[in-house]
Amino acid sequence: MDFFISHAGRDRAWAEWVAWHLVDAGYTVELDTWDWVAGDNFVTKMAAALDGAERVVALFSPAYFEPQRYTTDEWASAFVHDEEQRPRLLPLVVEECEPPQLLRPLIAQKLFGLDEDQARKALLDAARGPQRPDGRPEFPPSAQARGQEAGSRPRVPGHPPAVWNVPGRNSDFTGRDGVLVPLRERLLSGKNTQVLHGIGGVGKTQLAIEYAHGFAAGYDLVWWIDSERTGLISEQFAALAVAAGLVGTNTDHTAAELAVRKYFREKSRWLLVFDNAEDPGAVRPWLSGVAGHVLITSRNPAWNEIGTRTEVQEFQRQESIALLRSRQPGLADAEADRLADELGDLPLALAQAGGTLAETGLSVPEYLRLLASRTNDVLNEKPPSSYPTSLAAAVRVSMERLAADEPAAVALLQVCAMFAPEPIPTDWLSKPKAR
Ligand SMILES: Nc1ncnc2c1ncn2[C@@H]1O[C@H](COP(=O)(O)OP(=O)(O)OP(=O)(O)O)[C@@H](O)[C@H]1O
Ligand SMILES: [Mg+2]
Repeated sequence: MDFFISHAGRDRAWAEWVAWHLVDAGYTVELDTWDWVAGDNFVTKMAAALDGAERVVALFSPAYFEPQRYTTDEWASAFVHDEEQRPRLLPLVVEECEPPQLLRPLIAQKLFGLDEDQARKALLDAARGPQRPDGRPEFPPSAQARGQEAGSRPRVPGHPPAVWNVPGRNSDFTGRDGVLVPLRERLLSGKNTQVLHGIGGVGKTQLAIEYAHGFAAGYDLVWWIDSERTGLISEQFAALAVAAGLVGTNTDHTAAELAVRKYFREKSRWLLVFDNAEDPGAVRPWLSGVAGHVLITSRNPAWNEIGTRTEVQEFQRQESIALLRSRQPGLADAEADRLADELGDLPLALAQAGGTLAETGLSVPEYLRLLASRTNDVLNEKPPSSYPTSLAAAVRVSMERLAADEPAAVALLQVCAMFAPEPIPTDWLSKPKAR
């Protein structure tokens, strides 16, 4: 193995771009997510990577050096040179960042902000190293000969495709490497319809937005379909047909639909997001025989035979703390931990609380006191701009829907609300003692 590519999950698109071009230039490459949890040790990780490969490409970015991942222990092995006197660690900078002191002496090649040709040249020069000016790899055989899909060449990250309709990226987007990277890997492995399932406010839509922006370079067309109201789906496809130049502006819906379906069958470098889709029956007809990638976000678990489901869970504690800190940088560990605990690590609740704290100047103990005494009022305040309602309103809407569809379920929920948050033995509900 020539290169191991070590990267933060968030920089996966860059890792794929680097890997593609190194393979194209004749090197052998393996991707490795630099997915550390607190306490992981840089030295051990790097030593393991160097065991499996001649050299390690490290993609430097703010995510790579997040304090909870980085430990500043000595890591001499990375400075070791190979037999041709090239350093075994090849750092490449994919986003402006401040590497830790220890790494500053390494000369890191910048890849971002360059055009495609410049970035490719910078990468291959760095890979060859200064010691081998004439050691150019042989003229590479064509990508297809080595099994890379024709036309699969990713654009340099940071450039969305021409046909693009996706909500803006959340600049406070936090964590989720553990969902995004496996999601990407599944899509690339041929499981082309992926479903993000989970409770309201858990972060499904945000994940889909982040995926679309992060991996935009791998697609020629990315289109967002608001799928909550199923009656509006087909007109969004009609708009897509026009934007993609498949039909003219005055074409009727049926012709536009036919053109879109043909495109989806014949082309593969596209991504469709069905966001907030509750009715599988309304989505399924669009998916027959398609060759690109489909991402569905839903509170409904029933997507069997349509796609592979990923359960989106509440944040891990580190992610909750990072989100709160993005609004309140000075927040102490213990306070952030307490707040995240009270809010059940639910991203919507955390985003809302973070906003309230930042705007009102309330202290965490004051906020928690209010939360305990006036829960509904507090959770009714200041929804994040990326979500349509406050948490309290979202719960209210769900309860109203449930009351209309399943009144008995509402009664059951009300009983459950009397218990502590710990699991409730179901016996208590099914076998109430008569008094
Ligand atoms: N990874 C994240 N980083 C930062 N904020 C997040 C993240 N995930 C979610 N949030 C916050 O939580 C809010 C709710 O997230 P999102 O809209 O993705 O929920 P959802 O699971 O799609 O909910 P629903 O089922 O109601 O559509 C977002 O508007 C944002 O403020
Ligand atoms: Mg959503």
